[in-house]
Amino acid sequence: MNAQLINGKSISDSIREELRYEVELLRQKGVTPGLVVILVGEDPASQVYVRNKAKACEQLGYYSEVIKIPAETTQDELLRVIEQYNKQANIHGILVQLPLPKHIEEKAIIDAISVEKDVDGFHPVSVGNLMIGDDALLPCTPSGVIELLKRTGNHPSGKHAVVIGRSNIVGKPVSMLLLRENATVTICHSRTPNLPEMARQADILIVAVGVAKLVKKEWIKPGAVVIDVGMNRLPDGKLCGDVDYDDVLETAGWVTPVPGGVGPMTITMLMANTLKSARRFSQ
Ligand code: GUN
Repeated sequence: MNAQLINGKSISDSIREELRYEVELLRQKGVTPGLVVILVGEDPASQVYVRNKAKACEQLGYYSEVIKIPAETTQDELLRVIEQYNKQANIHGILVQLPLPKHIEEKAIIDAISVEKDVDGFHPVSVGNLMIGDDALLPCTPSGVIELLKRTGNHPSGKHAVVIGRSNIVGKPVSMLLLRENATVTICHSRTPNLPEMARQADILIVAVGVAKLVKKEWIKPGAVVIDVGMNRLPDGKLCGDVDYDDVLETAGWVTPVPGGVGPMTITMLMANTLKSARRFSQ
């Protein structure tokens, strides 16, 4: 078997087209979605991510602000900036780029963001709403994974989904979303015995561990859908995922490439969340 490619770039482009139409409808009511992205310090990878978020806002006609704050800023100063944007009516989404410098407590910052403007879906109330199935702003990468599945005709309902990784950003929330979509979900992690055997039971395999090319063809049930959330830099500078892409092509039914799979979906879902928030504020 030769796996079909899940083209995250083209799926992301078509979602952005749908968003463009909805943005126009909202604009006719006098509302422009507004996003502020706050970057503390000068981490090079974070700078690239922040630039791409601002670019996406520009493409879709959102109002956006990028606030760059020196690494030495105190936690209290950052909290004051967030408080200002919590109150600012033309801002519907607040994103503080992670990781933060060590002297700033990530949890205190996430907790301070108004739940209504929590477009990352990281606030404990957003996480709780996701868990109990209430309407929430959903974390972007996990909701992007669900869109990739649905838009390639691989609906999770009734399938066995195996998630490798239990992070708060991907593993746990994507597991909850899969459950909400009526999959049977198994969550595996670094202490799970016999990972390949667990993975081989998956109709849908989601991998988010940050280990380059961990998953080989022996881990894949023939015909399975393989979603690779990993993004690792090899010694030669090339990017690769947690799945050995060329190796699993023979066995998998569908597979996401890295780059060009899950990656493009994350910012698109951020744009969708900002629009959703703006719509709620306008009601
Ligand atoms: N850093 C890496 N990914 C993310 C993300 O999805 N949101 C935020 N706020 N920071 C990140």
